[in-house]
Amino acid sequence: MIALSLAEIAEVVGGQTHDIPDPSVRVTGPVVRDSREAGPGSLFVAFVGERVDGHDFAAAVVDAGAAAVLASRPVGVPAIVVDDVQAALGALARHVVRRLGATLVALTGSAGKTSTKDLIAQVLRQKAPTVFTPGSLNNEIGLPLTALTATEDTRFLVLEMGARGIGHIRYLTGLTPPRIGLVLNVGSAHIGEFGGREQIAEAKGELVEALPEDGTAVLNADDPLVRAMASRTKAKVLLFGESGEADVRAENVRLTDSGQPSFRLHTPSGASDVTMRLYGEHHVSNALAAAAVAHELGMSADEIARALSEAGSLSRWRMEVTERPDGVTVVNDAYNANPESMRAALRALAAMGRASRAAGGRTWAVLGKMAELGDEALAEHDAVGRLAVRLNVSKLVAVGGREAAWLQLGAYNEGSWGEESVHVSDAQAAVDLLRSQLRPGDVVLVKASRSVGLESVAQALLGTGAEGEVAAR
Ligand SMILES: Nc1ncnc2c1ncn2[C@@H]1O[C@H](COP(=O)(O)OP(=O)(O)O)[C@@H](O)[C@H]1O
Ligand SMILES: [Mg+2]
Repeated sequence: MIALSLAEIAEVVGGQTHDIPDPSVRVTGPVVRDSREAGPGSLFVAFVGERVDGHDFAAAVVDAGAAAVLASRPVGVPAIVVDDVQAALGALARHVVRRLGATLVALTGSAGKTSTKDLIAQVLRQKAPTVFTPGSLNNEIGLPLTALTATEDTRFLVLEMGARGIGHIRYLTGLTPPRIGLVLNVGSAHIGEFGGREQIAEAKGELVEALPEDGTAVLNADDPLVRAMASRTKAKVLLFGESGEADVRAENVRLTDSGQPSFRLHTPSGASDVTMRLYGEHHVSNALAAAAVAHELGMSADEIARALSEAGSLSRWRMEVTERPDGVTVVNDAYNANPESMRAALRALAAMGRASRAAGGRTWAVLGKMAELGDEALAEHDAVGRLAVRLNVSKLVAVGGREAAWLQLGAYNEGSWGEESVHVSDAQAAVDLLRSQLRPGDVVLVKASRSVGLESVAQALLGTGAEGEVAAR
């Protein structure tokens, strides 16, 4: 972070200094919430959690070199004491971001935020120093902590924003006001909590409402609920998508036999060919979104296309493709799942199967439940089961409880029975089944919502996770 004295920080957050012999001591960063990450010059933020109270680690972090603790009570070591630690952290981030010379890019959406954020970062950093959200730290704590890792050199700050309800994005944009705001899509992620798609659109659109007049709203032309957000912003609107009216669009989209998208990228400043290293057609939309942001920040179509073609996966368990020595390919997409991403992953599996089928290989979809779908849960699981059959996936293994049963029943009703679709109770049973049946040339997709922990199946197949780690959920 940019260096600030303890006195300045206390003023910014409206806190009292306690046990601080020298208020001119400077925090040089990082600002951390995990005591194990505290080191010389850092500021430790003490949260009171359900199981752990950060204040208990105050002495240890100062021993490790931390300059002070941001705390809600005196702790006997240098501390800035405030009423509300989260609000103070937010105020500090807002202050620091305002002083930075960086352009802030924020993005939200139902599916693909992390993948797209990683793409944007990999494109923009070809041009200038870029700081971006690590993994999925997109909430009221992860966002300010990320913003505080920026330094004087940072030119682009790319922040993922998550929302589980109305007002969440507005709160986040208040902490780190973006100049470019990107909305990817309005799908059904967390639809149970939100109440419906309209409410999700209402919540995500808060991002473009927060943009200044000289800012840019980057919107998905292919998603009507996102396209309609153009009326909710005073910023300029830049559209991306496959639709003809998009400013940044893809032509000749196809999946290679390895399941990687390739297309011709058009931006207002030119056109160039892209073949991605990432797997699955859903990344075309993510890539176009990233291209639109990069175009807005002055990159040429050639520069963007080159960076998109080189970009890899920076966050784990998202279409992570590994070939075993025996020729079985495992596609670990177990980070999360919703209906849109299930369909995208199944289509990628089908494309990968085109090549493997010729060599006698089969495609396996090992799928678990999609959480938080509310009233749509039955229909959506049924539809995914049916799609697996329509895409000619060789074997469906539905893992878990009721939702998995719906998935398998959908496949059954679509015409897949006998050994083609099975329902097993847990991850261990899936691993046992796969171990006894996989053969060289087979491609196995593993995917479910985060809470299912289905990555344990991929890890067991790849020998990267301990046997005992196979989730029982
Ligand atoms: N544009 C997209 N549309 C649908 N699904 C997507 C898209 N981009 C990624 N996904 C899938 O959604 C899941 C979550 O991806 P991720 O990038 O982590 O999204 P988020 O951060 O929004 O949760 C992954 O399984 C991924 O394959
Ligand atoms: Mg994410």
